[in-house]
Parts: sequence; structure tokens; C-alpha cells
Amino acid sequence: MDILKILDKKREGKELEKKEIEFFVENYTNGTIPDYQAAALIMAICINGMTADEILSLTMAMANSGDILDLKDISKNIVDKHSTGGVGDKVTIILAPIIASLGIPVAKMSGRGLGITGGTADKLESIPGYNVNLSIEEFKKNVKDIKISLISQTLNLAPADKKIYALRDTISCAKSVPLIASSIMSKKIAAGANHIVLDVTCGSGAFMKTKAEAKNLAKMMNLIGEWSKRETKCIITSMDEPLGYAVGNNLEIIEAVKALKGDMPEDIKEVVLTLGAYMIRLAKKGDNIVENKEKILKVINNGKAFKKFKELVEKQGGDISYIEDIEKFEKAKYIMPVLSEKSGFVEKLDANIVGQVSVDLGAGRKQKEDIIDNAVGITLVKKISDEVKKGDILAYVHASTPEKATEAVENMQKAYKFTSKKVKKPNTILEVV
Ligand code: URA
Repeated sequence: MDILKILDKKREGKELEKKEIEFFVENYTNGTIPDYQAAALIMAICINGMTADEILSLTMAMANSGDILDLKDISKNIVDKHSTGGVGDKVTIILAPIIASLGIPVAKMSGRGLGITGGTADKLESIPGYNVNLSIEEFKKNVKDIKISLISQTLNLAPADKKIYALRDTISCAKSVPLIASSIMSKKIAAGANHIVLDVTCGSGAFMKTKAEAKNLAKMMNLIGEWSKRETKCIITSMDEPLGYAVGNNLEIIEAVKALKGDMPEDIKEVVLTLGAYMIRLAKKGDNIVENKEKILKVINNGKAFKKFKELVEKQGGDISYIEDIEKFEKAKYIMPVLSEKSGFVEKLDANIVGQVSVDLGAGRKQKEDIIDNAVGITLVKKISDEVKKGDILAYVHASTPEKATEAVENMQKAYKFTSKKVKKPNTILEVV
């Protein structure tokens, strides 16, 4: 088979055959096809799209590019969750211990940051010592022993996705329904869960800008779930403004710890309760969504969820003294307020701009090999619908240099739009698909 013929075909918008997709995935993963040819194909897919058959072939080829875990000896009902990405999205770090503390095993492989969206694996690594790179045996053992393991994609699970995902980030091809659907579902299939709950984000800080786009992606992932016999549920959530108040790695872990102790911003709570209630239902531990939400609140209030998080951190080599005392997390050298230049109600808080400011500060990567600065980021003070007076603090930027802080403050001003009329708090949960 010839990669140039495959490139020709996709450039012209033709449908690729299963064996051509398998050839590309196999040979890009083993290094025979170079980055520049892979980049050309990925860009052609991004522009011309893929048919449902092509997406299924790509998903299965990526899932089969490494090991496929069999977790049936641990439980018949392993649940997994994944988000299509957002700004300030620390839901996995809060929700996974909650679900595990209810006795439901969670085996989850998380991604790194992509574009302006942060990655759970990067956030977990900001806990000193936390090892996201476990062996398959350790991963399985942790799920067996304490019902939870959160790792990154370093095992030999969907290695093709790992390579393609990193490449997409550097060639502006993060946003694409076929590529996102196959990326997420290949990882989920390889990681062995048989029930999957997906948070499909939409809005300025997400890859899918409109609800219609998000629904299209959700339907595609449901279809892949059906084909691969993984029961899948998608929850469409709003990502017009960042989730919660913290953006940046240490800052988000601190917000997650507080949430696990019961101090949870309303928008995070809505997402955690809804996704969690469906995870419990898919795991066959309760069909009633309202009652499932109560079960979640109970393990937060009685401290079981927080205890489970500490167990997880300890088991993966992390220093739990940071979780017990969040003041220990390194702080950025320069913390500067963003002051409101107007009075009124916050009408818009553009998650895309906040995400970009956070990447510029060093909380995310611009190039594959960039090293993340865990201490930097943004803490929001005002969000959509809040009333503001001129001179009030809208947010704080946490920066490593005074120049970066000044630039971030200027850019953060552009994220806010005000109106003189009262604004309704936006809904976070938009639809269950
Ligand atoms: N998360 C993933 O795992 N893959 C994507 O492509 C986007 C979000």
C-alpha cells in the first residue's frame, strides 16, 4: 500500500477503505510514516471529514494499535468517563473518587492538554510525586484494591491516538468530529470499561461551538459505543464560560480538593451530579437519577469521597500532605488583579480567551515539548450574571513574570462583556443524548 495514494484520495474527499486506514494507523504508530505525511492526512480529514464507516475503522484501528485491557476479572461493570475538553474542567478529579467511594470501580486513562483545553493527566501531575505512568499490572491492581486508578496514556493503550493527538495539537487540527470521536472512543475501548459516560462540551471554550455540533459529536460517539458494545451516554454541557473559578494546574487541583470537601461551585456541582448519576445508572447501581444524585451528595458530606481521593493519590505515589494542606502548593510569583473598567452585569465571560490567557501564562503547551508551569493560571472572581462596579476585581492572574502578568491582565479584560440589564445564570447541563 502507498501512503501517497491514501493522501491523494483523502485530499480529493473520497472515502478511505478500512485496510487503508489500518495501514496508516499501523505505520504511523511504528514510525514508518513520518510526521509530515501524517500531518497532511490529518489535515485532509479535518477539512473533508469522514463517513461513519471510516470513523469506525479509524477508532478500531487506533484501539487495536496497542493492548486492549480486559477488566472483567475485576468487575462486570467498570465505568469510565471522558470530556471532549474544556477550560477549567476538573470534573474527573472530583467525580472519579466519588464514584469509587460508592463501590463502583473507575479505571480511567486521561489525556494531556490539547489546544486551550487543559488535560487531567497534567493536572494530576501537579500533585508532587503523583505518577500517571503506571504499568498495566499496577493500573489493574489499583482498581482491584481501591476501586480507582487515574493514569495518562503512557501504557501501551491506543498508542496511535497518543501520537495523532499530540500531532493534531500542533497543526491546528484539534477541532474535528471524526478525530475527536475516534480519539476518545479508541482510548475508552482500549482501557477496558464497558460503560462510558461522556461530557460533550459546547461553547466558546470547547471544540464544538454550538449545541448542534456537540449533538452531532455525541451521536457519533454513541454510535461507536453501540458498534463496540460499550454502553455509552453523552451529556452535553455548556463551556461558554470556564467551569468553576480556577484555571491552571495547581489552582484546579486546589479547587477540586475543596469540591471534594463540599465547597463546590454551582456549575461544577451540576456537571458532577449529572454525569455521576448516569455513571451509577450504567454501573447498574441505581436507576433513579434523582436518588443517584443524593448518593453522591452523601459521600461528599460524610467525607468518603475525599478519603478515596487521598487513597488514590497515595497509591499513585503522590504526596498527600498537599491534599491535606492545599497551602503547600507552589504559588505563582506574581498575582495581579484584573479590575473592571465598567459597571453592570457580566453578560459574557469568554472561555476561549481565558483558555488562551492560561496557555500564554504557561499553564498549557504551545509546542509538543513545552514544559508546563503548574503554578500559573487564572482565578475568576466574577462570572456570568454577577453584578460588578467599576474598579471591582474580576479575576486574578497568576504569572511567572511581571511582563506576563501585565499582558494577561490586558487580555483578560477582553474576556468580559457587560450589560446594564440583569442577566440570568446560564444552564450548565444542556441535554442528555
Ligand atoms: N479528548 C480526547 O481524548 N481526544 C480529543 O480529540 C479531544 C478531547
